[in-house]
Amino acid sequence: MSHPHTKWKPVRKAVFPVAGLGTRFLPATKVMPKEMLPLVDRPLIQHAVEEAQAAGIEEFIFVTGRQKEMLEEHFDYQPELERTLKARGKQDMIDKVRTCEIGESQLFLTRQARPLGLGHAIWCARKLVGDEPFAIMLPDDVILSDTPCLKQMIEHYNETGGNMVAVMDVPKEDTSKYGVLDVESDDGTLASIKGLVEKPHPEDAPSTLSVIGRYILQPEIFGHLSKFETGAGGEIQITDAMAKLIGTQPFHGLRYEGERYDCGSRAGFIEANIAFSLRDPEIGASIQKMIQKHALAINAEAAYSRLE
Ligand code: G1P
Repeated sequence: MSHPHTKWKPVRKAVFPVAGLGTRFLPATKVMPKEMLPLVDRPLIQHAVEEAQAAGIEEFIFVTGRQKEMLEEHFDYQPELERTLKARGKQDMIDKVRTCEIGESQLFLTRQARPLGLGHAIWCARKLVGDEPFAIMLPDDVILSDTPCLKQMIEHYNETGGNMVAVMDVPKEDTSKYGVLDVESDDGTLASIKGLVEKPHPEDAPSTLSVIGRYILQPEIFGHLSKFETGAGGEIQITDAMAKLIGTQPFHGLRYEGERYDCGSRAGFIEANIAFSLRDPEIGASIQKMIQKHALAINAEAAYSRLE
């Protein structure tokens, strides 16, 4: 897809809303940001940043809050650590440390002082985004795929222009956890969207095709966000502002290739650790053995209780 649409600017910036409290992981997140929880060997935020880097993003905008300083430290150059590792001859560890540097003048931070919703968090980044399209990466949503999810989206965006969200089909009873699409047409990969509803009850949901945490939006979204209208849960919702762009600009949902894990929940986070660690060249084989051992124990227990 090498013919970028002339009317639409390229996506160079990504916004990472990271001000959330992470109450579902207390007490682990009492002082540590939930985005620092490790998925195998790197924190959740690093998985999101690496996905954006692989998609060609040049500017990384964190919307942070109190007690989130560790996030910016994580992506900084750490000379003392590197000196110590060098003195000990641990070049492999130095290489690992360097994978999480964001280049100088590529990381920008702003704060969301009050938890007024995802739409408000994105509005807080408006000055740093300026008048160009941008991506949003929700670090809670981790996608295991051959081609990074945002890269897939940008390739399609370069053909369609406008706005795009990553989507997946969810069980009908789960629509109340997601932004849900009202679909105009659907070719099995790209769905053209005629409406969006935030967290509808299953009976009211226009479909089961739901937004997961990757977005490409045009800067006109900020005009809608700045009205500070509240929606589901009394929060300023990005979904409601996006719905207002429909009809004025193209809006598509992309069924990306890959498996998404909800790392905002404990069970989803643990499943992600299992899936990612199975693919880890250093520990994958031993993790597989451990899972087999536990599966055998579970099966034996079930067989025993049938006998009782
Ligand atoms: C947010 C969005 C929702 C989207 C979801 C994806 O909800 O508001 O539209 O479907 O992320 O994970 P949250 O999970 O923050 O409640």
